[in-house]
Amino acid sequence: MPTSPLTSLPAWKALQAHCEQTRSVHLRELFQQDAARGERLTLDAIGIYLDYSKNRVGDETLRLLGQLAEQAGLRQRIDAMFAGEKINVTEKRAVLHVALRAARGSSIVVDGENVVPQVHSVLDKMAGFCNRIRSGDWKGHTGKPIRNVVNIGIGGSDLGPVMAYEALKHYSTRAIAFRFVSNIDGTDFAEAVHDLRPDETLFIVASKTFTTLETMTNAHTARDWLLAGLGGDASATAKHFVALSTNAKEVAGFGIDTMNMFGFWDWVGGRYSMDAAIGLSTMLAIGPENFQAMLAGFRAMDQHFRTAPFDENLPVLLGLLGIWNSNFLGAETVAVLPYDQYLKRFPAYLQQLTMESNGKRVTLDGKPVDYQTNPIYWGEPGTNGQHSFYQLIHQGTRLIPCDFIAFHQSLNPVGRHHAMLMANVFAQAEALAFGKTANEVETEGTADSLVPHRVFPGNRPSNMILAEKLTPEILGKLVALYEHIVFTQGTIWQVNSFDQWGVELGKVLAQRIIPELESAKDSILGHDSSTNRLIVRQRTHLAP
Ligand code: F6P
Repeated sequence: MPTSPLTSLPAWKALQAHCEQTRSVHLRELFQQDAARGERLTLDAIGIYLDYSKNRVGDETLRLLGQLAEQAGLRQRIDAMFAGEKINVTEKRAVLHVALRAARGSSIVVDGENVVPQVHSVLDKMAGFCNRIRSGDWKGHTGKPIRNVVNIGIGGSDLGPVMAYEALKHYSTRAIAFRFVSNIDGTDFAEAVHDLRPDETLFIVASKTFTTLETMTNAHTARDWLLAGLGGDASATAKHFVALSTNAKEVAGFGIDTMNMFGFWDWVGGRYSMDAAIGLSTMLAIGPENFQAMLAGFRAMDQHFRTAPFDENLPVLLGLLGIWNSNFLGAETVAVLPYDQYLKRFPAYLQQLTMESNGKRVTLDGKPVDYQTNPIYWGEPGTNGQHSFYQLIHQGTRLIPCDFIAFHQSLNPVGRHHAMLMANVFAQAEALAFGKTANEVETEGTADSLVPHRVFPGNRPSNMILAEKLTPEILGKLVALYEHIVFTQGTIWQVNSFDQWGVELGKVLAQRIIPELESAKDSILGHDSSTNRLIVRQRTHLAP
C-alpha cells in the first residue's frame, strides 16, 4: 500500500529530472551510441520475445523505473494479491483472477477457505457440459443437437468471450455457429438470430450480477424468440438456456435451473473473468483440452509475474515503459496493433481491461491524483491500420506509443502472405523509430516544396511482442501479460484497478429516462433544458 504520494517518491522526482535532461535525445542517437541496443534491450521469457529497444529509454531510465516500482510497493502488492488479501478496498474484495488458473491441488485461501477446489469443480462441470454439446449428446427441446450458440452478455461478459472466440477460431469446431449479443440495441439480437433455428440454438446468459440491463433485456427477448419458435412451451428453456453468474438467486428468478448455471465468485472482476465460467463459449468452441492449454498459458505468466526480477519481468517492464511514455513523455494514448487477423478484437478487449481498471482520478485513499492515469487504448489489426490512421502516428503532432504483436508462424500459411505481413510490422516499427530526415528526402531528388511534407520525424516509441504461433496457451499468456501490466500501472498510480464506479451514473440516469420516454407526452421533465428537449423529441417517435 502506498506510504507517500507518488509524485513525492524519490524515484519519481529523479525520473522527472532525468526526463528533462534526455527529452531531446533521438532514438537514432541511442542506436548509434550502442550497436548492440537491439539485442540488449530485449527479453525472451516463457515463449514471448519482447524487443523494447525502440522506446526512448536508456539504462538510467530503466534503473530509475525499477526504483519507482520498488518505492511504489509493487513487490508487496503482488504478494498481497496472490495471498488473497482484500486489495479491492472500495468493494472490500480479494482480487483473485489468478486463482482461476491455479493448478489442481494448489491452495489459495480466501476468508479461510481454499478456493482452488471450487474453481476446478466448475471447470469440470463446464468440460462435461461442453463435451455433451460438442458430441451432440445434449439434445434441444425437439430432440435436435445444438448447432448454434449465442452468448448474451456485455462488458467483461462479452468482450473476453468474443475476443477469445475470434482469436482461437483456428482451433474451434466448425459444426457449431457462435454469435455474441451485447448491445441493448435490438439490432444486435435481431441480426444474431435472423438465420438461426430455435430448436438448434443454445443461449448462454453471461452476467456476473445477472441484473445488467442490456443482458437481461436481451435474455428476455431471446426467451420470447425461442418460445415463439417452439410453440410457446415454457419448459423448452431448460434445454436452450444456461447461465454464467455469481448470482444464483437471480438466475433461478429468470427461470434457468441452477443445475444449468456455471458459477464464479465476487473475487473475480468482470473484465478479468474470461477464464472463469464466463469462458464457457470459448470452451464450447475450442474444447476442454484447448481451454486447459489456455489456462496453462495464463498460469505461466502469473508465475513469471510473481517470481521474475523486475528487470526481467515482462508485465513489470511493459507497465513501467507505459508509465514513462504517459507520465513523463506525455503520451495520451497507446495503440495496440496485432499483426494477426485472429486478434482483431484484442484491442477492444484491452480497452475495457485497461480503461475500466485504471481510468481513475483518485488514489486508494480517495485523494485526487495530480498526474495522469490510464492512457486511451485503441487499435486495429495490421496491416489495415497502415492504410488509415498510421499517417497520424508517423507524421501527426501527438506521440502515440505502439504495441506491435506478431507471430513467427502463420496459422494459415498461404503463399507469401506471412512474409509480407511480418515485413510490414518490422518496417512500421523501424519507420516510427528512425523516420526519414529532410536531408534523406532531399537526396532522393524531392522538390523543395515537398520536402517538409515527406519528412518523417521518427523518435516514436514502440514495443515489439513476438511469439512462435497463436495457440490457446499463447493467448492465455498475452491476456495475463496485459492483466499484470494493468496491475503494475495501477499500483504505481496508487488507484484501485478493480472497481468501476464511473459506469454507475449513466446507468442510473438511463433508468430514470426510460419511463419518461415511454410515458404520456406531456409529463413534466426535470432534467436540464438540453436533456428535456431530447426526450421530448424522441417521445414523438415512440408514441403510438
Ligand atoms: O457496467 C460495467 C460492468 O459492470 C462491467 O464491469 C462488467 O464487465 C459489465 O458491466 C457486465 O456486468 P455483468 O457481468 O454483471 O452483467
